[in-house]
Amino acid sequence: LENIQNLKKELSETFPEHDTPVGVLHPYWARKPLNIIEVIISNLSQEGDVVLDPFMGSGTTVFGAIKNNRTAIGSDLNPLSYSLVDGILSFQERPFQKIEELKVFVNEFSNQVLEWFKWDDDFYIERERFNVQGDFRDGKFNMSTVEVVLKKKIDGKWRKRTTINNNFKREFDKNAEIYLNDPIDFDNINLLKNSRIAIPEGARLSHFYTLENRAAINLALRLIDSKNFDPDTKKVIKLLISSALTLLRLSDKKASSQWPYWRPKTELTSRNPAIVLENRLKKIIAAAKWVKCNTDSNYNDYAINNSKDSKSINVSLYNEPIQNLPDKIIPKSSVDLIVTDPPYSDQVPYLEYSALWLDILGLGSKEELFQYEIVETDAPGRESDSEEFLLRLKSGLIACGELIKNKGFLVIFYQDWDLNSWNMLYEVTNIANLELREIATIPKQRRSMKTVTSPGKTLDGDQILIFQKNYKADRNENNTKYNLKDKVSEVLIETGEDAELFDKYAAVVKDSMKNHWIKQLAVEYNDLSQLIK
Ligand SMILES: C[S@@+](CC[C@H](N)C(=O)[O-])C[C@H]1O[C@@H](n2cnc3c(N)ncnc32)[C@H](O)[C@@H]1O
Repeated sequence: LENIQNLKKELSETFPEHDTPVGVLHPYWARKPLNIIEVIISNLSQEGDVVLDPFMGSGTTVFGAIKNNRTAIGSDLNPLSYSLVDGILSFQERPFQKIEELKVFVNEFSNQVLEWFKWDDDFYIERERFNVQGDFRDGKFNMSTVEVVLKKKIDGKWRKRTTINNNFKREFDKNAEIYLNDPIDFDNINLLKNSRIAIPEGARLSHFYTLENRAAINLALRLIDSKNFDPDTKKVIKLLISSALTLLRLSDKKASSQWPYWRPKTELTSRNPAIVLENRLKKIIAAAKWVKCNTDSNYNDYAINNSKDSKSINVSLYNEPIQNLPDKIIPKSSVDLIVTDPPYSDQVPYLEYSALWLDILGLGSKEELFQYEIVETDAPGRESDSEEFLLRLKSGLIACGELIKNKGFLVIFYQDWDLNSWNMLYEVTNIANLELREIATIPKQRRSMKTVTSPGKTLDGDQILIFQKNYKADRNENNTKYNLKDKVSEVLIETGEDAELFDKYAAVVKDSMKNHWIKQLAVEYNDLSQLIK
């Protein structure tokens, strides 16, 4: 019990930090705070223990495990996640040589691409703003340039910004034409319609990039193959391009949106790819140094190393759906600790979101993975409703239970008002012999739009659920019918009037799961808001 209470206390004292050098490298969604993950790992496992994240996303758990000398295993069904984490970790070997090769690559790329953006003898177009006429749907829109921002390079830095506002027609550079459709024909890559993530009917990849930037991406892809880069260097060049793809598209003024397909209706901005890549290179160098500082040698792609006295760091990465992990990939009962953040219902359809990267970087096809993805989506041809989502999540969590050793821990980030999903978790604990030990809450780093617009409706932060396998032999389940209002107020009295809504919420679900009244609660109420406020 001691380590769990200690963990809860440390979590309440730790302010979540999302922006580490490895974290900010790529716009992968729902990135978790590394320091929180590290607190969990250090309290619930020992050096050398096997720590797994079967929904690794941008790799936060994997990096946290490596940093704390654990044996790390990461897996995700999304090929983008695998290539991202694999690319970053490849800096364990020959990091400085790789950085030098990246510099050569960026230099060569810039030399060619800058010519397409030349304004006069000194200045280059750094960004271009367009007015849009017509409708984005089906690509029935025209753009005209209304503003350019110019920069010139002084002592190796892009400086001296001037802005020219004018309506003018800019010609597409003849030298760029040969790159326009090869190897990637942007005009022939269709995206799945999904209104939730702002992909309209008939959207094609060409609707998201200017001609110049399409040509620039193709030039970069061709450069990778034309040089004799070794496979590991190719990985990190792809990582560089991957980290720049959203910044190269037509977007809002700041190009800061985490939504890769969203775009303003009437005004669009496009940025100079050479300058974008030069900037991303700096981020990559920072990430490479982070990897170098936090890892040992012996990065091993495949084997699980269970030996506790080994000093070297072991990492294994897989691109597999969780449904395939137990026994096929990872032996059952072999993992000491799982720390993971499963997908939330319809928040992010990861495979649809990743289409841009998968298609441009040739990372793999998503269609055959659709059947496994734990997601709620109404995209045509792949409907998965909230019930299907819960079923898939349930089987994923049962798989987690199978992988954990006797008395090992499963820690998940979770939040949902819907009591059905809490009841599903309760059912999982029964099937997988997991016992809910504690629910800790941590605040969000930034206030989301939702919290501001509907306070009291949004759970502002994360709940961290700590389960232990085979903690108790018997579970004293009973069929008592409770007076739920009394039950809830009992818990709330104990929690205290002044507690945050979020903590009250966590206390109620914890008590109802531990004391077996969650099922009755889920049958009689949809969500907790009616009972808590
Ligand atoms: C909320 S994200 C994890 C983010 C991660 N915690 C981080 O810090 O970046 C959930 C991940 O689950 C993955 N996923 C969805 N269905 C899956 C499945 N059936 N098997 C494995 N991974 C899946 C998604 O691709 C996504 O990367």
